[in-house]
Amino acid sequence: MSDEKQDLPPIGDHEDSLREPAPDMKRRRFLVAGGLGAISAGAAAIGLITPFVSSLAPTQAAMTQGPNKLVVDLKPIKPGQMVTFPYLAEPHAIAPVVVVRRTPEMLASLIKIMDQHILRDPLSQQPQQPPYATNIYRSRKPEWLVMFNKCTHLCCVPQYWPEPRSLPGAKDWWLGGFHCPCHGSVYDLAGRVIIGSPAPQNMAVPDYHFEEADTRLVVTGKYGPSGICIF
Ligand code: FES
Repeated sequence: MSDEKQDLPPIGDHEDSLREPAPDMKRRRFLVAGGLGAISAGAAAIGLITPFVSSLAPTQAAMTQGPNKLVVDLKPIKPGQMVTFPYLAEPHAIAPVVVVRRTPEMLASLIKIMDQHILRDPLSQQPQQPPYATNIYRSRKPEWLVMFNKCTHLCCVPQYWPEPRSLPGAKDWWLGGFHCPCHGSVYDLAGRVIIGSPAPQNMAVPDYHFEEADTRLVVTGKYGPSGICIF
């Protein structure tokens, strides 16, 4: 489960995402922004379609939990699965922490979406994550996404739609990610916000590390500067 063992997609030249988009990319951004309203309407209208629901109860994976510390046994979490844990930061402050075990296909989508130039902060320049997660995967180890699942608009909890084209109302540009049901913000599978969303920033990544040959996750708190909708 180490970095070396993962079959990662080629990263390519991500600096392209910081350049002024070509005219066709501007049009794509316009189409995506225009489509966000359709997503909310579609998600509301199609009642039978539901976001991916993890079958793994948090208590099966959580080992210990207490103020400012969450310890998770990662072994039961299957590829593609997301598990949510109520992180207790203070006696009266709870924020949901999600852990996603990303597949090689999901990691490839984080490269592919950068070619669409629809991410507001593709290289995580804003301090919404610790320095070790300031990369396109927004994580210490690409396979594992560890993130506060709080929309940076008005703090609702986004839903997990991991499959390409799975989100009602979205078209081919949807490669999997998170959708906020409150006002329609959308994020990719690294919590990077998509242009046109009311949310101003990527979702926050907490401070964490791995132990026991990367089979145990220890979340130790929010990352200092990150603040929107966290506690
Ligand atoms: S709270 Fe998520 S879009 Fe408004």
